[in-house]
Amino acid sequence: MAEWSARSRREGRSVGFVPTMGALHEGHLALVAEARRSHPSVVCSIFVNPLQFNNLNDLEHYPRQLEADRALLLKTGCDALFAPQADGLFAGFVPTTYSLGAIASHWEGPSRPGHFQGVVNVVERLFHYVRPDAAYFGEKDRQQLTLIRHIAEQERWPVRIVPCPTVREADGLAMSSRNARLNAKDRQKATILYRALTVARELGFQHPIPAVEQAVAATLAQEPDVVLDYFGIADHDTLEPLTQWGDRSMAVALIAAQVGPVRLIDNLTLVR
Ligand code: PAF
Repeated sequence: MAEWSARSRREGRSVGFVPTMGALHEGHLALVAEARRSHPSVVCSIFVNPLQFNNLNDLEHYPRQLEADRALLLKTGCDALFAPQADGLFAGFVPTTYSLGAIASHWEGPSRPGHFQGVVNVVERLFHYVRPDAAYFGEKDRQQLTLIRHIAEQERWPVRIVPCPTVREADGLAMSSRNARLNAKDRQKATILYRALTVARELGFQHPIPAVEQAVAATLAQEPDVVLDYFGIADHDTLEPLTQWGDRSMAVALIAAQVGPVRLIDNLTLVR
C-alpha cells in the first residue's frame, strides 16, 4: 500500500484517504467524494479494529460486507481499497499509550474505556501503510475527529485531517453502519436523538444551558425505551463540557443513547 501511495505521489498525484470499518453507507461515500475533489488518488480502508471495541458483543455483531463494499467503492471513484488482516496490520506492532489529554476524558471517554487509545493506534497503523496527504473523517464521530486532529498535531503526523459534515437520513437520523442492526420499531425510536439535538439547536444561546438540558430531557422522555447515556453541551474546539455559554459564538450538543441492541451517538453544532 505504501508503495502504491509513493508511486502516486512521485507521479504528481496526491493521496486522499478515507479510513472506515466497512458496511459503507452514503456518509462514507460522501467522504470519498470529498477526498476525490482534492486528490487524484483516493484510498479507502476497511478494517474492523478490535482494539477500539470495549464491548465484545458490539465487535461480534459489527456488520461486515466486504464484497458489497468493494463493489460500492468501485462505482464511487475510489482508486484503491486497503483491507488488511489484523496479523498483517499489527505485525511487529507494540501499542502506544498516547497522551490523549482532556479531549478523551468526557463523553465517549468514560463510557468506552480504551476506545480512543484503540482508535488512535489503528489510525497510526493505517497512516503508516497508506501514507496519505490528507485523511477524511466525519463530524458524526465528533470526538474522534477532534482527538485525531489533536494527536496528528501533537505527534507531527504529516497528514492533513479534513472534517466532513454528517450525512443524515430524511428524518434526521445520522447515517451509521450500526443503523443496519435496528429493527423497524427501533429505527423509528432512534430519530429521537436528532429531535433532541434540534431542540438544543433551537434553544441554544437563547436560554441558559441548564434550561436547554431540561428541554432536551423532556423531549427524550417521549421515547422511554431509548436509554440515554449522555447529553451535554461542549466547547466547539476542545469538547470541554459547558455549564454556561460565556462569550463563545459556537458550541456542540452531543448525545449517546442505547436504542434496542445498538448504542448510537450524534451531535450538532450550535451557532450563536
Ligand atoms: O470511524 C471509524 O470508522 C473508525 O473509528 C476508524 C477511524 C476507521 C478507525 O478504526
